[in-house]
Amino acid sequence: MSMSDLAINGGKPVFEGKGAIDLAPAWPIPFPETEEKLIEIYRSGKWGGVKKYEQLLMDEFSAWQGAKYSAWMVNGTVTLECALIALGIGPGDEVIVPGVSWIATAEAPIYVGATPILVDIDKETLCIDPAKIEEAITPRTKAIIPVHLFSAVCDMDKIMAIAKKHNLYVIEDCAHAHGAKQHGKGVGAIGDIGSFSFQLSKLMTAGEGGCCTTDNEEYFDRVFRVSHIGNTRLHPGVNPAMGMICHQYRFTDFQAAIIYDQLKHQDELKAKREKSAKRIKELIKNTPGIVEQKSSYDDDERAYYFYALRLELERLKPGIDRKFLMKAFQAEGVLLHEGWGETIIDMGCWNVPPERYKQYPIPVSLEAMHESGLYSMGNLLLADDAVIDKVAEGIDKVMRECAE
Ligand SMILES: Cc1ncc(COP(=O)(O)O)c(C=O)c1O
Repeated sequence: MSMSDLAINGGKPVFEGKGAIDLAPAWPIPFPETEEKLIEIYRSGKWGGVKKYEQLLMDEFSAWQGAKYSAWMVNGTVTLECALIALGIGPGDEVIVPGVSWIATAEAPIYVGATPILVDIDKETLCIDPAKIEEAITPRTKAIIPVHLFSAVCDMDKIMAIAKKHNLYVIEDCAHAHGAKQHGKGVGAIGDIGSFSFQLSKLMTAGEGGCCTTDNEEYFDRVFRVSHIGNTRLHPGVNPAMGMICHQYRFTDFQAAIIYDQLKHQDELKAKREKSAKRIKELIKNTPGIVEQKSSYDDDERAYYFYALRLELERLKPGIDRKFLMKAFQAEGVLLHEGWGETIIDMGCWNVPPERYKQYPIPVSLEAMHESGLYSMGNLLLADDAVIDKVAEGIDKVMRECAE
């Protein structure tokens, strides 16, 4: 093998014809049984209000995730906002968030008048670095929002210990982590409140949607009321507390039914993604210059929203960078992209004036987003084993020429 064997230089590609992602199931996966439910709801006229599949999801999704309660809403941005409101966080308060996430994680504190404080991530897990949290804590700090990013689970042992020590709330952003667990406990049930997104790209999706999970009855009642214009599931006939300003963020039963059916398929889909990820990891264990995103603990059950890899930049040959490698992988038929390519602060739609947030140095976040991260959507991992093996072959082929 030499550089000229790479498909980018005219060599024979690992995937001839269709590339790996085109050989994987298209996302999202439609399930035939859902069509019947959507017609049932349409004919019933019970499209909104108090509805059948929302009620079922409130019990069954939370049980699957290992939490007592769940409250459902229009998306996974307002879930973060409602979680903050339910915990009494508002103007003057500070909320610690990671440097890498979708902007919703940092916008939510801004929506409630609080200040997001950005701290750096861990190089290997890409999740908030627990070692960087304590220096960012001030008397104004009220909460931490760890994000279980791409395929990793944050180090919740350390985060919960820090929160306990400093009397802080923890809101887990689980937008990427449906079904993920740490030490056997579902994410979203470890901190005070969990926040899930069901936006189109997510592991479970209704196009849009969100929910908060919690084990705490009082938080559940508040989150539900705040998102359901003051109504309650637990205390019928009792009005919300005076001064609790509530939103109308209910979703429809069409969305609930789609998610309800997906729930029945989750264990199987998650197991397949996990099996494929382990297969690639084994096949590229001696490949130079590239490693998998790690999770915090060996017993973490990962959901694999993204399959994420990290370039070991110091091992790349002169002149080789992520831009070149993305083209080289693409030429082999292995589509690996740069993900967001941006930290929260760089994101084009983050137009928040600098005085509204605070940022600690985030060199690891910058390197991960600008230089070293390579990603594929999780549905790649649902492809047949033969495709998965060729993905590993493509990664190995390119990296052997481009790293030492
Ligand atoms: C980490 C993270 N948090 C929150 C959200 C917000 O979810 P939604 O798009 O449903 O509002 C997203 C969505 O993309 C996300 O990736």
